[in-house]
Amino acid sequence: MKLFIFLISFSVSLATQDQCGISIVNSGGPTGLIFNGELAEDSQWPWAAAVYLKYGEKRNFLCSGTLISGQSVLTDQFIPFNGTFPRNAVQGGYEGTVKLFVGRKTIDGKHLLGKIADTLKIIYVPYFAKEYEFEDDFDILILSDIGWTSFNSSIDQIPSDAISINEDNLKTYVARRKIDKDVVVGKFNPMLNSLSVTYNGTEFKFSDGIEIMTTNKPHKWIPFTGTFPSNAVQGGYEGAAKLYVGRVRHPTKYIIGKVVDTTRTISVGFFDKEFKYKNSFEILVLEN
Ligand SMILES: *[C@@H]1O[C@H](CO)[C@@H](O)[C@H](O)[C@H]1NC(C)=O
Ligand SMILES: *[C@@H]1O[C@H](CO)[C@@H](O)[C@H](O)[C@H]1NC(C)=O
Ligand SMILES: *[C@@H]1O[C@H](CO)[C@@H](O)[C@H](O)[C@H]1NC(C)=O
Repeated sequence: MKLFIFLISFSVSLATQDQCGISIVNSGGPTGLIFNGELAEDSQWPWAAAVYLKYGEKRNFLCSGTLISGQSVLTDQFIPFNGTFPRNAVQGGYEGTVKLFVGRKTIDGKHLLGKIADTLKIIYVPYFAKEYEFEDDFDILILSDIGWTSFNSSIDQIPSDAISINEDNLKTYVARRKIDKDVVVGKFNPMLNSLSVTYNGTEFKFSDGIEIMTTNKPHKWIPFTGTFPSNAVQGGYEGAAKLYVGRVRHPTKYIIGKVVDTTRTISVGFFDKEFKYKNSFEILVLEN
């Protein structure tokens, strides 16, 4: 069977070199494409791309990405900017001696791409032909071995490079979601279209806002021995605490949950309750 990489760019008419990144909704009207849960207008998202694998007539969503030239797509991984530029941050350009990194600001649930100046640590976002500045609460793009792909069960297939385990005879996947100001990792059950995470001491289930973890690297689950190796997979955060991806037997089958770095405890959701374990659990690591 032949396999094609198939790319949909949300910018059709504006993708010229000098106008790159300017969002002007014009002539075309709705494109029939969804961006961040809403119908995308022609030219509304000049840098945003959706990458699909095409099998005959069938399209499988692979990942989202950012156009960095007429021919290159960078698949995305945004992390909150905390004032320090990560080593693997993506520099998108420069103005004089000022380096410009690729950033993202979320306004009214919309992800807007912009440039972060290394000198002032401010993000500049183009929106409807104007420029807006923000000093805090934005994300920076990094190159990463891990991706988090937004998933809507009515239009998307589970990505082929998602991470799953067998819970009895059912496959469950590593996935996460934003809750309040945190990002919480847990397990996604595709049969029920339900993400289970623990938060505020209880189990929450969601069928929207889900992001499924993907990676192109080999991975394994190793027993937790009290420290987090550098290749352990961070799946989110709660305030200052990092949440790593783990799994534990409860009571007899493996369940994916969050491992909180400050308490070195795994927490899993089961029958609307939170269960915590201090010992005998495993964490997810990537191999080279
Ligand atoms: C999922 O996609 C369907 C079909 O496009 C859309 O009606 C629905 O609002 C989407 N759900 C979410 C949570 O974005
Ligand atoms: C800021 O984020 C970087 C990773 O991008 C991390 O290494 C560093 O510890 C963070 N600093 C603070 C103060 O949170
Ligand atoms: C979690 O608890 C905090 C503090 O009690 C509360 O403000 C917040 O709404 C709760 N979040 C959820 C999703 O229950």
